[in-house]
Amino acid sequence: MEGASSSLLDAEAVADLVLLDPLTEESLVQTLRERFRRRDIYTYIGNVVISVNPYQSLPIYTPEKVEEYRNCSFFAVKPHIYAIADDAYRSLRDRDRDQCILITGESGAGKTEASKLVMSYVAAVSSKGEEVNKVKEQLLQSNPVLEAFGNAKTVRNDNSSRFGKYMDIEFDFKGEPLGGVISNYLLEKSRIVRHVKGERNFHIFYQLLAGASPQLLQQLKLRQDCGHYGYLNREGSNLPGMDDAANFHAMQDAMRVIGFSPAEVTELLQVTAVVLKLGNVQLSSSFQASGMEACSITEPRELREICELIGLEPGTLERALCSRTVKARDETVLTTLTVPQGYYGRDALAKNIYSRLFNWLVNRINASIQVKSDKQRKVMGVLDIYGFEIFQDNSFEQFIINYCNEKLQQIFILMTLKEEQEEYVREGIQWTPVEFFDNSIICNLIENSTTGILAMLDEECLRPGVVNEDTFLTKLNQLLATHKHYESKETQNARRVTDTSLPPRCFRIHHYAGKVTYNVTGFIEKNNDLLFRDLSQAMWAARHALLRSLFPEGDPQKVSLKLPPTAGSQFKSSVAMLMRNLYSKNPNYIRCIKPNDAKSAMVFTPELVLAQVRYLGLLENVRVRRAGYAFRQPYGPFLQRYKMLNARTWPRWHGGDRQGAEVLLAGLAFPAEELAFGHTKIFIRSPRTLFDLERRRQERVAQLATLIQKMFRGWRCRTQYQLMRKSQILISAWFRGHRQKNRYKQMKRSVLILQAYARGWKSRRLLRELKSQCRRHAAATTIAAHWRGYQARRTYRKYFRSNASTCLANFIYRRLVQRYLVGLAKNLPPLSVTDRTWPPAPYRFLSDANQELKNIFYHWKCKKYRDQLPAARRAQLQARLCASELFKDKKTLYPKSLQQPFRGEYLGLKQNPKYQKLHAVAKDKLVMADTVRKVNRANGKTVPRLLLLTTEHLVLADPKAAQPKTVLSLSDIRGVSVTRFSDGFLALHLKEVSTAGAKGDFLLVSDHLIELVTRLHQTLEATTGQALPLHITDRFSTRFPKGDVSITVVESPKAGTNGPVCKKKGSNKMEVLVH
Ligand SMILES: Nc1ncnc2c1ncn2[C@@H]1O[C@H](COP(=O)(O)OP(=O)(O)OP(=O)(O)O)[C@@H](O)[C@H]1O
Ligand SMILES: [Mg+2]
Repeated sequence: MEGASSSLLDAEAVADLVLLDPLTEESLVQTLRERFRRRDIYTYIGNVVISVNPYQSLPIYTPEKVEEYRNCSFFAVKPHIYAIADDAYRSLRDRDRDQCILITGESGAGKTEASKLVMSYVAAVSSKGEEVNKVKEQLLQSNPVLEAFGNAKTVRNDNSSRFGKYMDIEFDFKGEPLGGVISNYLLEKSRIVRHVKGERNFHIFYQLLAGASPQLLQQLKLRQDCGHYGYLNREGSNLPGMDDAANFHAMQDAMRVIGFSPAEVTELLQVTAVVLKLGNVQLSSSFQASGMEACSITEPRELREICELIGLEPGTLERALCSRTVKARDETVLTTLTVPQGYYGRDALAKNIYSRLFNWLVNRINASIQVKSDKQRKVMGVLDIYGFEIFQDNSFEQFIINYCNEKLQQIFILMTLKEEQEEYVREGIQWTPVEFFDNSIICNLIENSTTGILAMLDEECLRPGVVNEDTFLTKLNQLLATHKHYESKETQNARRVTDTSLPPRCFRIHHYAGKVTYNVTGFIEKNNDLLFRDLSQAMWAARHALLRSLFPEGDPQKVSLKLPPTAGSQFKSSVAMLMRNLYSKNPNYIRCIKPNDAKSAMVFTPELVLAQVRYLGLLENVRVRRAGYAFRQPYGPFLQRYKMLNARTWPRWHGGDRQGAEVLLAGLAFPAEELAFGHTKIFIRSPRTLFDLERRRQERVAQLATLIQKMFRGWRCRTQYQLMRKSQILISAWFRGHRQKNRYKQMKRSVLILQAYARGWKSRRLLRELKSQCRRHAAATTIAAHWRGYQARRTYRKYFRSNASTCLANFIYRRLVQRYLVGLAKNLPPLSVTDRTWPPAPYRFLSDANQELKNIFYHWKCKKYRDQLPAARRAQLQARLCASELFKDKKTLYPKSLQQPFRGEYLGLKQNPKYQKLHAVAKDKLVMADTVRKVNRANGKTVPRLLLLTTEHLVLADPKAAQPKTVLSLSDIRGVSVTRFSDGFLALHLKEVSTAGAKGDFLLVSDHLIELVTRLHQTLEATTGQALPLHITDRFSTRFPKGDVSITVVESPKAGTNGPVCKKKGSNKMEVLVH
């Protein structure tokens, strides 16, 4: 800072030429010289930077310097290219304005270096990050690649840019570089085939030969010898201070960083090698059979190697180089070329390949560095174009280059001198016009679409008939005879001026930077820039993908008869586009000055510098700057930017913008001459005031930021405090509540314990009292009872002694019986007749009664059971009962008969028609019908008989005839005898007096003995009222007609299963075997 202010005040070497006093050309050059001597190569005119090439490296581009200029205040630091770069970058980032940095100056003045410095500064100060760094690296690394292919040594500059370059660096809203786009302008391709003594071809050729490994050279079929190659061998190849090999490696590294694949690099170098080798294709003339001269390849090896590199048939290339196909009407004719035509074609091919390769290279780099996202972008354009140049022999290229520089000068003039002055007038600011040279007239001379030199050149190129440079020059001389800035031998002669420096076939233009004499030779050819179609077709036919892609017009399918636009018109339109682009951005100027012609360090040639100062219009620039205002801005944005500097305009101004700006500035108390109020803009005279304004703004912004911070922090602390307080209150409320609750619980517990103790004590006391009361009461009661008992006993003894016990016993008995009966009634056993249970008698004296009651209950139960039985069932049960009474425990057959039901009717009299007669006999009185066996009284054998028992008779019938044989009246039956055993033997004893009795007793065997006897008994009892005399015995006597027979029952196993066996034993004995 101190250094800056001291140099600002240093009269001999003011940093800003606006402060120069007195202001003359001499003092200006002197100041630059003095500063140059002090190694201050940068000087300001306002915000325009003048850079004087030191031709030596100075320690002013270190990272520390970058830091020093980062966010600096433009006028507070020493003039530096970094300051303008910083200003532009910040304006882009903070004010959202697209920027362009215009670097002008003649060849060797340091433009390319300046552009690189700007780029590296921007890269250094913009933010960092993996992605951003990659972008930055790619952007920076595009320089060595483009310089290798586009720069060459000229007499003026060892690293002269032979193409124009405009690079747009694109940033996002934070100022981070996103990528970029490079535009290139007209490469000086004639250098490929020809360059003047002391110059070199493009660096790449020398770099390739010096730096490539033997393998790579072999692969490219090259020799490491510059002298071997026709396009290079005119000069010594090495340049002092330039290491071609190292640069080659640096270029290869750069390509890798940018993203070239190894295959792409190889293809690129192959095409480069082809260009180099094309220069060695030698042609010689030979005579054809027709006697016509024709050219042919002298030494086919080089051609063959080229063809091997590009994958092409050597014959094809040879044909394309030595002959030409001409289309006449519908015929195609192959014409041979002369040797000069052949060389022309060869060189045109080499130039075309190289220039197209260069365009491809730029496009390829663009593909890598272009912005991939569609974020909103801000742009900083850096223009580094070939500088104005005057050579011994100036040709079409110099004409184009100088035209371009003329246009840039026009921009400068327009923006800094003309526009500015016009603006003062427009805005109504008092202004004394400053005279300056306006180069529009020269631009017009070249680019006017009807009378401009370029237009006329195009006209000549397109015109049918004889066309050559002479006709072109004649035309120029005719049209521009009176033009102030045009001269030629003819116009001089017409004006009677003798000038030996202007040779014939030349014209001279008075450029802003000096007079340049152009030799018209080659103008038409270079403008046409035609390549024989045979050659482009041959290139397209190559298998080499890259080379093939460079010649799309070689595709025979796409033959176009339309002439391509001329080189001049192409350049003119691209320059017009560039200008439009530059006008749309905020310009920042770096004006480079070359201090000497010898490229020597620290040599300052005042004459040379003075010439540049003159043509750059620096003096006028200072004058306008000094008389004018350093800064202007519409009121609106100005107020917006600085309104915080006045309490009345902050935070909002409600009036008009101009009033606001006036109020604002009035409050800041700047000297009146520092400010001017235009119709729409505010003007500030010196940068210092602006700087002061900016500084105050920064301070105020810092204050405001602090205020906002303060308020925010306060708010945050307050909210936090309130939150904490609320939380604290809540916590303490909960805690207190909790504590009180605990305390209360404890108190409650204690109170309860106390209460319990007290109550317990009280209760115990009461209990004790009640108990003692109770005891007293009980004692009293006992005493009373005893007393009463005693009394009662005394009375009892006296009055009731005699009956008392009976009375008491009766009473007690009655009570007991009553309780017994009531209990019995409540607990009666179940009504089932099979259930014989009965509660036992509670007292012994009740056991008889209990037994009796048990029987009564049982009988009653049975009666109830019987009453509900049907008649048939009852009769059956009665029969069973009767059978039981007769036989139970007397005859062993009885238990077995229990299983058999008493069916009565076993014959089926009703159903069987055979027994109809018997049925009629029985009629309704039948009791039983069954089959029995009658024992023969004579021999003991048995015969079957049907037995029918009716209520009146017992009938025996023959089973076959079913006729009654014997009919016995029931009253005739005297009795029945049966055995004790399980047999069906029975003796039916008849009364002797009866009619039937004469026949004697019957011995029968029945399968249903028990039923038969029982039914007989019942029927007899029912009819006669007398019981049947039944004898169950083992020995009894029977009466047979032939006398009585005693029958003995013998238990014997011989008895068959079919019944007893009767054996007659003598005349009056019979044995019955049973079991
Ligand atoms: N700031 C600098 N510091 C040291 N040397 C410099 C500086 N600027 C330029 N030079 C030297 O001057 C030489 C020429 O500079 P540069 O190539 O930038 O010129 P130019 O204006 O681009 O010329 P041309 O128009 O021919 O391309 C550089 O090679 C370098 O040696
Ligand atoms: Mg350059």
